[in-house]
Amino acid sequence: MYRQTIEKQTIQEIKEKMEQGLLPQWILTDPSIYEREQEKIFARTWQFLAHDSELPEPGSYVTRWIVDDPILVVRTNDGEIKAFLNSCPHRGTMLCTADFGKKKSFLCPYHGWSFNLNGDLIGVVAGDKVYGEEMKKDDWGLRPIAQVAAYQGMIFATLDPDASSLEEYLGGMKWYLDILLGRSGGMEVRGLPQRWVVNTNWKLVLENFSGDPYHVQSTHRSTVELGISPKDPLYAGYGHQVVLENGHGINVITAQGQGRPERPPYQGLPEEMWPLFESNLSKEQLRVFAKTTVFVGSIYPTLSFNSPVHGSEGHLHNYLNFRVWRPLGPDKIEIWSWFMIDKAAPDDYKEDAYKGYISSFGPSGTLEQDDTEIWTRVAQTSKGYMARNKVLSYNNLLNYLMGFERVLPDENFPGPGIAYPTCYLDAIHRATHEHWLELISRD
Ligand code: FES
Ligand SMILES: [Fe+2]
Repeated sequence: MYRQTIEKQTIQEIKEKMEQGLLPQWILTDPSIYEREQEKIFARTWQFLAHDSELPEPGSYVTRWIVDDPILVVRTNDGEIKAFLNSCPHRGTMLCTADFGKKKSFLCPYHGWSFNLNGDLIGVVAGDKVYGEEMKKDDWGLRPIAQVAAYQGMIFATLDPDASSLEEYLGGMKWYLDILLGRSGGMEVRGLPQRWVVNTNWKLVLENFSGDPYHVQSTHRSTVELGISPKDPLYAGYGHQVVLENGHGINVITAQGQGRPERPPYQGLPEEMWPLFESNLSKEQLRVFAKTTVFVGSIYPTLSFNSPVHGSEGHLHNYLNFRVWRPLGPDKIEIWSWFMIDKAAPDDYKEDAYKGYISSFGPSGTLEQDDTEIWTRVAQTSKGYMARNKVLSYNNLLNYLMGFERVLPDENFPGPGIAYPTCYLDAIHRATHEHWLELISRD
C-alpha cells in the first residue's frame, strides 16, 4: 500500500518496469521518494545558481537556493565568484535577505557580526569585551559551498565535495551550450529572474522540457488554431532528440515540416551577427545551429532551457530562457525563469525578444499557462489511492513507449550524444528516469 520506505526489492521492481518502457505512477509525488531525492540527488549534483552577467562588478551579489539551502553568491574584489551558505555562523539567521545588490561587506541583522566579500568574519560587536582577545575570527567565517564552477557564464555549485568536475558532469551538453551561450561572444540576463510557485513535482516539469515536444500540438492547441503553428501534427517532432550522459538531454527541432515556409538560418537572428557565429562555432555546430528552430532540453536534475523563435516571417526573434525547477516538496516547485539574449544583438531586437518571452513563457505567458495547468493535474492525479495503491500492476504504470526499441540512432548527426532522427520519442525520458533510479539507489 502506501510506501514509506524504498526497499531494494521495490527498486528492482521499478527497474524491471522501466526496462519495459513503463513507469509506476506512485513514484512521481511519493513523500519517501522525495526525501531520498533530497539526499541522493539534489545534494550531490551540480545546481545552477546565476549567470555571470548578474554579478557585473566586485561586491555584486545575488541570493539563491539549492532546494532548501539558502545560497549567497558574491563577486569578490579579485573578480572571483564565491558562494556561501546564506546563514550566519553565529546563530544561523539568514545573513542577506535582499534578492540582489552590491556591497563591500555583509552585516548580520541579528547580533551585528560582519563578513567581507571572501566570507571572512571581520567585525564582532564589542568582540574584545565579550569574547576576549583570544577569539579566533578565522574559525567563524561564512560556510563556503563545497564546489563552485562556471561554464559559458553559467555559474553552478554542488554541495558534494566529492562530485566530479562541472565540465565532466555536463559532458556532451557543453557542445550544445557553446551554440546556445557562446555563439556570439556571450549572453546577458535581462531583468531579474521571475519566480512563481506551481503545485507539481520537479520530475514532471523536467520531463516536459527534456523530451516532450509531443505535447506541443495538443497542450498548446491555441497556437495552431490562431495560425501561429502549422497544422501538421508532426511539426514539433522534426529534428533530433539527443540523449546525453548524467540524465541530460536536448531536442534540436527544425520544425520544417509540411506547410511551413523555409525559415531564415540561425533562428532568425540578425544577419549582422552571423560572422560572430562563424568565428565562435565549429563547422558542425554551425550546421546544426543554421537549421534549428527550437532548442529545448535539460541539465539534470533541475535546470531546463528553451530557445524558441517567435514572431512572424520577416520579423522573427529568438531568445534563451533558462529555468530552475526548485523543489519545495513532493508536490510543489518554485520556478525561477531567466531571460537571456546575445549581448551583441541590436537593442531593438533585444526589446522585441523580451516582449516575445513575456507573452509566451513568462509567468503570465499564454504557453506557460497551458503547461502549468497540465503539470498541476498530473501531480493531483498521482496522489490518490488508486495511483498509489496497485503499485506495479499494469493499471498503475505510465506509458514511456514512444519509439521504444523501434527508432534507431542517426549515426550521421554531427553533435555528441545518442541522436535519434525525431523529437517525438521517449528516449530522453527513459534515460532520465533510469538515471534517477541509479542515483536514488546509491548508498
Ligand atoms: S546570528 Fe548573526 S550575528 Fe548573531
Ligand atoms: Fe509546453
